[in-house]
Amino acid sequence: MGSLKAAPILLLLFLATVSAQTTPTFNITTLLDGFPDFSILNQLLTSTKVADEINARQSLTILAVTNGVLSAFQGSNPNTDLSDVLRYHVLLQFFGLDELKNLDMVNATSVTTLLQTTGRLPGNEGELNIYNLPAAVLFGSTVAGSTSGNATLVTNITRVDYEISIIQIDRVLIPPSFGIVQPTTPPPAPPTPVAPASEPATPASEPALASEPTTPASEPAPPSMAPTKPPTKPTPPTKAPASDAAPGSESAPGSGAVVVKGGVVAFFASLLAVLFM
Ligand SMILES: *[C@@H]1O[C@H](CO)[C@@H](O)[C@H](O)[C@H]1NC(C)=O
Ligand SMILES: *[C@@H]1O[C@H](CO)[C@@H](O)[C@H](O)[C@H]1NC(C)=O
Ligand SMILES: *[C@@H]1O[C@H](CO)[C@@H](O)[C@H](O)[C@H]1NC(C)=O
Ligand SMILES: *[C@@H]1O[C@H](CO)[C@@H](O)[C@H](O)[C@H]1NC(C)=O
Repeated sequence: MGSLKAAPILLLLFLATVSAQTTPTFNITTLLDGFPDFSILNQLLTSTKVADEINARQSLTILAVTNGVLSAFQGSNPNTDLSDVLRYHVLLQFFGLDELKNLDMVNATSVTTLLQTTGRLPGNEGELNIYNLPAAVLFGSTVAGSTSGNATLVTNITRVDYEISIIQIDRVLIPPSFGIVQPTTPPPAPPTPVAPASEPATPASEPALASEPTTPASEPAPPSMAPTKPPTKPTPPTKAPASDAAPGSESAPGSGAVVVKGGVVAFFASLLAVLFM
């Protein structure tokens, strides 16, 4: 009897799941297809299957870099699997330009990325801080003393309210423990971004890129950006996307997880091979 009663409910749940999976509200590949400046990013999202993980979610912000920035980065890091770097650029919360400008200007806002949900990084390294400064909006590691650098908001690319927002930033963000290098030469300036009226001129304000040395370790932190920030650690828990980080949703990208595990195994295998040579 009990199983007979449960059957219709299970059927409903099954149908709900199926329809949720087969009727996505957006397709990141199709969205980016409209912006040729981001075609390399689009290809990478597809080849790494991170696009599937993005399409399986809702309420996201994609931090996008242009072909020039990404190809310079790839040139400095040939043969690097960029899957996890891409996941670091997927914020599990919707931020249009207005939402970014309305963030706390005193304390940074920390946001979970798709990379954090893999559970493979130490602590909260898979989170990003958003700094809503008077001169610019910056994105950077939440890890204190990180030398991997901040990216600067350039402009908003497109959005599907309030499912996905694609925001252009000026450089590739790297989780601190990855040991990946930034390009030694600054990438070309973004091609005449159509800056919205409310946005201050941001791209030129970050001094780090132009003077960037060959090793990221000695990169100077942008000095002019700090005055509004208190010396205490700026990671308020208030903006944490509770629903986004629900444990149930973290196992969703099945094939992606397999790819990830394969990558990790391969990484440690090559590490062992080096150690025992
Ligand atoms: C998204 O669009 C691409 C390109 O048109 C297509 O290959 C892919 O199957 C689509 N993904 C989904 C989930 O519809
Ligand atoms: C900023 O963070 C500090 C320390 O956590 C806190 O005391 C203060 O109230 C915060 N300020 C704002 C405007 O949220
Ligand atoms: C960019 O943000 C501004 C301010 O919210 C908005 O008016 C505009 O429609 C947005 N453009 C895109 C392409 O999302
Ligand atoms: C990013 O900018 C903020 C504000 O200026 C600064 O406090 C922080 O140290 C920077 N982070 C990195 C990784 O450079």
